[in-house]
Amino acid sequence: MAVIECTDVKKTYRTGLRGRVNALNGVDLEVKEGEIFGLLGPNGAGKTTLVKIILNLVHPTGGSVRLLGSDVGDHRIRTKIGYLPENPNLPPYLKGGQAMELFGSLSGLDPATIKERSAELLKEVKMDQWADKKTSSYSKGMVQRLGLAQSLINDPDVLFLDEPTDGVDPIGRREIREVLKGLKKKGKTIFLNSHLLSETEMLCDHVAIMEKGKVVAAGSLDELTKTSNYYKIKCDKIDDETLEKLKPLASVKYSINGVFEAKIDSVTKLNEVIDMLRSGGQLIESVTPVRQSLESYFVDLIKDVRGEENGK
Ligand SMILES: Nc1ncnc2c1ncn2[C@@H]1O[C@H](COP(=O)(O)OP(=O)(O)OP(=O)(O)O)[C@@H](O)[C@H]1O
Ligand SMILES: [Mg+2]
Repeated sequence: MAVIECTDVKKTYRTGLRGRVNALNGVDLEVKEGEIFGLLGPNGAGKTTLVKIILNLVHPTGGSVRLLGSDVGDHRIRTKIGYLPENPNLPPYLKGGQAMELFGSLSGLDPATIKERSAELLKEVKMDQWADKKTSSYSKGMVQRLGLAQSLINDPDVLFLDEPTDGVDPIGRREIREVLKGLKKKGKTIFLNSHLLSETEMLCDHVAIMEKGKVVAAGSLDELTKTSNYYKIKCDKIDDETLEKLKPLASVKYSINGVFEAKIDSVTKLNEVIDMLRSGGQLIESVTPVRQSLESYFVDLIKDVRGEENGK
């Protein structure tokens, strides 16, 4: 079942008298029940805007969004949703434990449940020692940890996390990853906005990449990184002159001791590269497709998209 469905979602912000920012230019996206979904994209791509629209905090200019099979304005789904905003705004005059109580009561929970869940969650995010300290004394990473705990107070079915590990140290990041994996095991759906591609790679089942308010790639990690068109070619010898000749067919990333890795757009071109190497007297030992990391896929994709736009 699709937990989140976005169809042709558009958002234009009005700024000042005549200013307009087209933050979303027709976004289609689907998130299935029980998966960890990663939304990636450079700064300003529109990720936070999309999350806020799904949560009914920002109204779209066009298109439609359904959450848990309902209209996003349907108040009955509120209790099933958890949200860690991009910059969590904890009341500075409250202690961590009191902030949890406040968020619990805003979620409509009874005092006994709030007490129990709050103690459990503070422990889980390693903030139990800080429950009696004012949130104004927290470091950035501590704010994020408490923010994550508050987003879980109502035991939500769908959790939205906007840059959850921003400012969190590597140990904390690993702990947060474990919390999220535990939630997935319980069947929860998690929507994660992140810049940290290695983290996304470790956690997410499906990802979508946005640029300038549009989804430019979407699929499972496997699907995205497999279609990378990178090959590692091992020859007995290879020199700069030969590599230069290959330029029209292959974009060479590196070459070392007879091995070079290159982006080659099609199997036809790969065969032309092999023909060229063979006719130049090269002895080919192996040709291996290379699976890209999500990071290099992302960087190449955004470069391509921007390149196409600039070429228009
Ligand atoms: N309230 C607002 N008023 C005007 N423009 C806005 C507003 N919020 C966002 N924008 C603009 O909309 C675009 C998308 O912003 P958004 O915050 O959704 O991007 P993002 O992908 O979350 O970026 P980041 O990775 O930096 O968090 C940007 O150009 C931003 O300047
Ligand atoms: Mg954002």
